[in-house]
Amino acid sequence: MANIILLGPPGAGKGTQARKLVEDRGMVQLSTGDMLREAKTSGTEMGQRVAEVMDRGELVTDEIVIGLIEEKLATTEANGFIFDGFPRTLPQADALGRLLARMGQKLDAVIEMRVDDEALVRRITGRFTCGNCGEVYHDETRPTKVEGTCDVCGSHDMKRRADDNEDSLKTRLMEYYKKTSPLIGYYYHAGDLFAVDGLAQIDAVAASMAAILDQQA
Ligand code: AP5
Ligand code: MG
Repeated sequence: MANIILLGPPGAGKGTQARKLVEDRGMVQLSTGDMLREAKTSGTEMGQRVAEVMDRGELVTDEIVIGLIEEKLATTEANGFIFDGFPRTLPQADALGRLLARMGQKLDAVIEMRVDDEALVRRITGRFTCGNCGEVYHDETRPTKVEGTCDVCGSHDMKRRADDNEDSLKTRLMEYYKKTSPLIGYYYHAGDLFAVDGLAQIDAVAASMAAILDQQA
């Protein structure tokens, strides 16, 4: 089974596609954003510091996120990991390479999700998620079937993220272009890079990803 990275700007659809891959292929999603949001609610001093940085839309330190991934990899059995939102800097990419090598594993594909900035604003400002099961929705492109009720688990606890506003999104995009987009060159050079059109409909993006993964099998 493959280990893959989903690489793309905020709102590209990484979380949406990762959840489909978990469902369709039994892979394990490792989202540093989700892990950090959990730390935010832990009430610890570290959680408080992380919350301030995330809400502004800046990146959390490499040390913290590499530590989180290291711990998950050491304690999780999987038939393939989906790295969602990690790595986001060159030191994180180097660290992931080392961690996988130590486990006798490798990276099979890095899938770059291409979406233009204008679409990202619409996606981010319309997003909401189920607070109980984490299903991702959108006011226009993916509403719940019954208003206010999760299609998957029936919960009424719908949430919007503190960093899903135009100001934080601007910072998140800047961080992506400055610190994360160099990874496109890094993985292209390593021969691991594939790209999909992230502007296509959710199922069409999933089909493009499936074709890439089947090629790797
Ligand atoms: P993180 O949680 O990773 O956020 P992000 O990268 O900004 O990405 P998003 O989760 O916003 O978007 P997504 O690509 O998952 O899109 P989604 O599928 O939800 O990180 C948050 C913060 O944590 C960072 O800013 C940073 O502070 C910190 N952090 C995390 N990892 C870090 C790291 N490694 N290092 C340092 N700091 C780190 O989709 C978005 C919306 O669009 C949804 O409403 C969805 O329904 C809709 N949609 C999805 N696909 C489509 C489609 N094809 N067509 C139409 N609508 C679609
Ligand atoms: Mg996400």
